[in-house]
Formats: sequence, structure tokens, C-alpha cells
Amino acid sequence: MQSNRRKLTVDRASVVHKARYAARNPRRVAPFLRRTARDTWLRLRHPGDHVAYYRAVMASDAGRDPDFAVGSATRKRWLALGRMQFDYLRGHGLRPDHRMLEIGCGNLRAGWRFIEYLDTGHYYGIDISPDILVSAKKTLVTYELQDKLPYLTPTRDLTFDFLPEAHFDVVHAHSVFSHSPPHVIDQCLAHVGRILAPDGFFDFTFDRTEGREHHVLREDFYYRTETLVSLAERHGLHAEFMDDWEQLPHGQSKLRVTAPHEEA
Ligand SMILES: C[S@@+](CC[C@H](N)C(=O)[O-])C[C@H]1O[C@@H](n2cnc3c(N)ncnc32)[C@H](O)[C@@H]1O
Repeated sequence: MQSNRRKLTVDRASVVHKARYAARNPRRVAPFLRRTARDTWLRLRHPGDHVAYYRAVMASDAGRDPDFAVGSATRKRWLALGRMQFDYLRGHGLRPDHRMLEIGCGNLRAGWRFIEYLDTGHYYGIDISPDILVSAKKTLVTYELQDKLPYLTPTRDLTFDFLPEAHFDVVHAHSVFSHSPPHVIDQCLAHVGRILAPDGFFDFTFDRTEGREHHVLREDFYYRTETLVSLAERHGLHAEFMDDWEQLPHGQSKLRVTAPHEEA
């Protein structure tokens, strides 16, 4: 069962929606226009390269406030969103002995809790933004997690070519595909099966629409569930909609991807 707690048919890219939204939220018009101008400038500087463009968005946002850059307006929200991710994953199969890859780890909003929970050296975080990884290192210091020896690495793509085969029990990407165009998600799904351990799984969130797929400023992307499920299938993976995630106070939906077992 998929809940309908959100307006799942809204097309945020449409002029009608924008006009109605502006009329209801006049104070948000000026910040939105500023963001539009900045994003247009950054897109012009990085034509045809979404990752370079989004890295520049992150540099700009992280320079202002790293918590805001990962989507939390306050430290209280940052802590709550991290806890929500951690509690959910713990309740859905995460064990201390698991090896975990976090794609788009940000400034370790949930990552510091995973690092604390997992055995030493079992957490690997990657992100396209060097700026947010600098902030991630500060989070490690804040929570005194140096002895857990997590790996934090910048990446330009999601081919995982530098990572070993069949290694990760859990791959996690929270609020990453909500900022990713189709070719980035396709690349990730094409390669994630290689690094998943037998019985491993890949959980990711996405902004769900039941209407037309669209994006706002190439920052926020809205997908239909069936688009992502069939993309996973095209790469030999199975994707399951996580119904109980819908009950949590978070605007996105979650899919769990697994690879079929090879017969011996
Ligand atoms: C909204 S933040 C979420 C961060 C973290 N997952 C969390 O929940 O706190 C999205 C993060 O994904 C990173 N990101 C966006 N696109 C990416 C990509 N294609 N590969 C790796 N990281 C990406 C951004 O730099 C940013 O740190």
C-alpha cells in the first residue's frame, strides 16, 4: 500500500503551480528567484555536466551552512533526520558486522550514527562534494569517532570502479537520487550489483510523483516508482517499495534493491 500523505500529482515545474505557490508563500518568492539566478549561472558554467553543476551548488550551500546544504534548516532537524535514517535501517536488517557504503554521505547527518554502530573500518562514505566532505570530517571530530576509521572519499561518478566486488552488505543513498537526473541513477544501478555482497541490499530514497516526471532548477527531481523499478530490472536487479517508510515524517519514498542469487 502506498500512502497518499503528499500531493503526489503536483507538477512543481509548471507555471500554474509556481504562480499559485508564490501567491500562497509571498515571502519565498525572493529566495527562490535568488536561487534560480545562482543555479542558472552555475549551469552555464558547467554545461551538460550535472555532477559538476551540483558540486558547485553544494560548494555554494556548504559555504553558507553545511547542515542547510544537506537539507536541514536547523541542527535539531539534522539530528532528527539522521536518527530517522539510522533507526529505520537498524530495524530493517543493518548489523554491526555489516560493511556499508553510503552514497552521497554529506556531512554525516546519519553517517556518524552508522560509524558509531558499525565495526571499525566498516563504513565507507562517498560524495561528489569535497566541501561537504570537509564538514564530514568535522562531524567525526565532534562525535569522537576517529578510532572507528571510516573511509571518506570524493567521487565524480557512480561506477564504483575503485571498490571491490561483492563487498558491501548495505549500500545506502538518502536524498541523493532526489537531486539526480536519470543518467546518474542509471549509472549507479548499472554498477551497484557488482559491489553488493551476497544477500546485500541497496536502499535509496527518491522524490515520488504519480503525475508527470519533472525537475525544479535541475536540483530536485521527481520520479514515478515504476520508472525506477524498471530501471533496476533493466540492470538485473529487483526493487521493492518500502511501505512503512511512508509512515515516517519525511517527504520522500524509499526503494530497496537486491541482486538475484547466482545458482552454484
Ligand atoms: C541532501 S544531501 C544528503 C546527504 C546525506 N545522505 C544525508 O542524508 O544527510 C545529498 C548529498 O548527495 C551528494 N550527491 C549528490 N549527487 C551525488 C552523486 N551523483 N554521487 C554522490 N554524491 C552525490 C551531495 O553532494 C550531498 O552531499
